[in-house]
Amino acid sequence: MGSIALEEPVPAEPVDPNADLSSVLPMTAEIRDGHLWVGGVDMVELARTQGTALYVMDEAQIRNQLREFRKWTAFHWKDVETVYAAKAFMCKAMCRVVHEEGCMVLCASGGELAIALAAGVPASRIQVHGNNKTIAEITEAVDAGVDRIIADSLLELHRISEIASARGVEQSVLLRVTPGVKPDTHGYIQTGQEDSKFGFGVNHGLAMEGVRVAAALPGLRFAGLHMHIGSQIFALQSYSKAIEVMVDFMRRVLEETGQSVIDLDVGGGIGIKYGLADEPSTIEQFGKVVVDGIKEECESNGLPVPRILIEPGRAVVANAGVTLYTVGTIKEIPGIRTYVAIDGGMTDNIRPALYGARYECLVANKADQPRTEIVTIAGKHCETGDLIARDTPIQAVETGDVVCVCSTGAYCQSMSSNYNKQVRPAVVFVNAGEARTVVRRETYDDLMRCDVV
Ligand code: LLP
Repeated sequence: MGSIALEEPVPAEPVDPNADLSSVLPMTAEIRDGHLWVGGVDMVELARTQGTALYVMDEAQIRNQLREFRKWTAFHWKDVETVYAAKAFMCKAMCRVVHEEGCMVLCASGGELAIALAAGVPASRIQVHGNNKTIAEITEAVDAGVDRIIADSLLELHRISEIASARGVEQSVLLRVTPGVKPDTHGYIQTGQEDSKFGFGVNHGLAMEGVRVAAALPGLRFAGLHMHIGSQIFALQSYSKAIEVMVDFMRRVLEETGQSVIDLDVGGGIGIKYGLADEPSTIEQFGKVVVDGIKEECESNGLPVPRILIEPGRAVVANAGVTLYTVGTIKEIPGIRTYVAIDGGMTDNIRPALYGARYECLVANKADQPRTEIVTIAGKHCETGDLIARDTPIQAVETGDVVCVCSTGAYCQSMSSNYNKQVRPAVVFVNAGEARTVVRRETYDDLMRCDVV
């Protein structure tokens, strides 16, 4: 999948106007009197009262996904932690949900760490990663006392060591290892291959050197290994292959350095269903392949099974979220296509422009009608590539309708921008008939709050 030039025809797939969208909508989605409801809340009413564009998240589904990850890993091994990758979607309310559900929070920056701490997540339930943490970010993580820092380079090991030693503390670190496995996903989100900016390559001795340095430096406690091979992965064999490499490396680490791996972190990346034809694996299958895979490999290498960490992001939140927009201008170009313009776009969802990502759409106030039209949902920004869905099936759509874009809970709000000085939408959690705003809509004042003129 690459970004698609506008002139290229999208492969025509047969469209069933009555296709059931429930597999790409939040689990509590239902249709009542022609309207889409999520979490017992009418999406059309919510759009009218809260304004659009609007991110809506089904809290029950977020909790359900976290529980599923815990359940299907604990089913196979007693010592497993689910560490939610906050980059997929983060705000204080989300951090609290993650913590309440017994999961840890994985932070990718000082900013994410600040939010997790401000939300009240104890540092002992936070891990920090990133391929080029600044000295300030490392200092913040060490000072907070986070459970693990995942070190990406020798430079970082030295920096963590200096900072921890100066404070007289010992910081537990995992080493991010690139196992040399290329999963089947978009090139921009493959991370486990050798040619990558991330981590210590296992093939050229770098990772072994990393272990030796981590074990020898003062202020550091070598706690284990980390991998993350990519994102939106459907084929679980990629995990199996990577686990084989990682556990083989664990054995060599023990043999060559005497160091035991306490934690083996397999990262995130489990794919989700965006299009009706997508067939991602289930959390149950993921749990089995990963945990059983590690157990089997450990057994054949004569090693004890370590604590196992998994870091799902997308699979926790993507299908729990929808984005609501109001339709403005509709431009029909005879014989070419119909553009349906909405009051948002690439500022609240960059993924179609960046990855050629595709989403299912419906008209929330006509949710019981068949999707008989093919239109292109266009954003309001000054870019031709600002399209949310190209040539997509939808109900007969008119100005003023509320368009719902499905499965936007991951990497949409978290990758949003203020391009064209668009204010970012609010985020509303819906649950059991209640809607609570967890991130308010930005105002024009917010757009200027950092201006110092
Ligand atoms: N762990 C690490 C170290 C990661 O870098 C990531 C995501 C995750 C876990 C969570 O991966 P997930 O389960 O969400 O696939 N912006 C892209 C995705 C980038 C993923 C970056 N790392 C997108 O919109 O598709």
